[in-house]
Order: sequence, then C-alpha cells, then structure tokens
Amino acid sequence: MLSNGLLLGVFAVLSGGLLALTHSATRERILANEREALLRTIHELVPPAWHDNDIFHDTLEVVSPAYLGTSEAVTVYRARREGQPVAAVLTTVAPDGYSGNIKLLVAIRNDGVLAGVRAIRHRETPGLGDAIETARSDWILGFNGKSLTHPTDDHWKVKRDGGDFDQLTGATITSRAVVGAVYRTLHYFSLHRSEIFALPPAQEALADD
Ligand SMILES: Cc1cc2nc3c(=O)[nH]c(=O)nc-3n(C[C@H](O)[C@H](O)[C@H](O)COP(=O)(O)O)c2cc1C
Repeated sequence: MLSNGLLLGVFAVLSGGLLALTHSATRERILANEREALLRTIHELVPPAWHDNDIFHDTLEVVSPAYLGTSEAVTVYRARREGQPVAAVLTTVAPDGYSGNIKLLVAIRNDGVLAGVRAIRHRETPGLGDAIETARSDWILGFNGKSLTHPTDDHWKVKRDGGDFDQLTGATITSRAVVGAVYRTLHYFSLHRSEIFALPPAQEALADD
C-alpha cells in the first residue's frame, strides 16, 4: 500500500516536471517562430541588400500615444548601411479598427518615403477587414512610395472622405483606421528622424506626449 502510494507520488512529480519542461520549451519555440516571422516581414519591407547592420538588434523603444496609437512602448527597428541611416520600421498601432487595435509595421526610408506597410496583428472580420493582410488582398501595398508630400496632407484619407486611398469594400472603418495610423506614423518619423537614428540601441527615450 505504502509503496504504491510512493510510486504514484514519484510519477506525479515526474510527469509534473515533464509538463513544465515541455511547456517552457514550447513557449520558447513559439517566441522564436514569432521573431522569425517578424524578421521575415521586416525584410520584405526593407530588403537585406539595403542594410549591413543587425536590424533586429538595432532597436529603440519609443512612446507616443498621439502619433503611434498606444500608450505602450513601440519598437523601432533601424536599418543602416556603412553607418548611415537607411530606413526605420515602426510597430505602430491603429487603435480605431472595427474590432479594436490593428498592429502595423510601417517602414519608412530615411527620405520620408514609405517602403511599405504590413498588418501583423488584428481582429478584423474575416472576409471584410482582414483584407488588410497581404495574404488576402493587395490593398496595403497601396502605401508603397507614399509620403507626407505624396499625396498632400488633405488627401491622406480614404476616397469616401475625399482622400486618395481606396477603401476596402464593406470595410471602410478598417481602411480609415489604417490610413490614419500610417499618416500619423509618417508625421512622428518626420518630427523625430534624427533622434531615431542617433540614440543608442534599446534606449527608452523618446516620449513626447
Ligand atoms: C458582422 C459584421 C462584421 C463587420 N466587420 C467589419 C470590419 O472588419 N471592418 C469594417 O470596416 N467594417 C466591418 N463591418 C461593417 C461596418 O459595420 C460598416 O458598415 C462598414 O465599415 C462601412 O463600410 P462600407 O460602407 O464600405 O460598407 C462589419 C459589419 C458586420 C455586420
């Protein structure tokens, strides 16, 4: 009786330990996969040939609820070539999606022109708002090559609001949210460009509102 109980106890401890080990290994694998996917997306926007630094570690944490859509720190990935700024990729949030926050990667070349935008996390409706994903439609590629001067300020809206950007059919709210967030991110970059590239990596510094 006693030895049975002991055996059961040993098994319980062993399987508990095994479960904890598996859990932590799985978590680490998930995190590693997420980082890899993020790096792949960043490299879609800023091709490896454009830079010679380690973009994934040359980062900065910045805070700007008014421009970047969140009170949390936003990571900025910086691309440089021979020490010179090439582009910055900001993990902006569009807070006013149809179903809440839409997390975006906004890649801006040093001259202020958009290298591209990608939606990396959202809860927009499948078949409607999820057309912001490149896997669903090309809509988000419409930001390529745009800047604060192209189109001009008053045209940074969806067509329904008198601007230059197409809205997704049946998903005007989603489209409006993304256009607004990209526009504010371009402004943030134009205001802080020199600090963004000057500050040492991983320094929590820029907080302007
Ligand atoms: C079930 C359901 C899901 C919806 N999902 C979205 C969405 O993901 N994004 C969005 O902008 N509008 C969504 N809408 C539509 C909005 O209510 C709104 O009608 C629309 O954004 C207006 O754009 P439209 O004039 O192009 O239809 C959804 C509506 C319903 C009933």
